[in-house]
Amino acid sequence: MLGSFRKFSSSLFAKIFLFIVAIPFVFWGMGGVFSGADAYEKIRAGASAVQIYTALIYEGPGLVKRVKQELAELLERDEINSVKDVIGIDS
Ligand SMILES: Cc1cc2nc3c(=O)[nH]c(=O)nc-3n(C[C@H](O)[C@H](O)[C@H](O)COP(=O)(O)O)c2cc1C
Repeated sequence: MLGSFRKFSSSLFAKIFLFIVAIPFVFWGMGGVFSGADAYEKIRAGASAVQIYTALIYEGPGLVKRVKQELAELLERDEINSVKDVIGIDS
């Protein structure tokens, strides 16, 4: 009786472990992004993608190029090769 409960418990634990470890979660950063520094802050806080809405309305599509350029400069300043390396490091 207790043995079968232990096996059930272990198999449930394994399923939970797989769910948490094997499934990648993607967090979307949004809200108040107007610059590369703002995008960098969201990424360092855990975002794998950054959404811009209001700033695009005010500044137009050229904003995307500026944000990407500023983000690249920040990564270079901090000697980071890939943006993937900073996802969540401030969390
Ligand atoms: C004109 C406008 C319409 C929006 N419509 C929606 C919507 O239908 N559903 C939603 O979840 N968020 C909506 N949002 C919220 C945006 O997705 C976003 O979360 C929010 O604007 C914060 O990012 P931002 O500072 O870059 O604008 C809307 C925002 C704006 C400015």
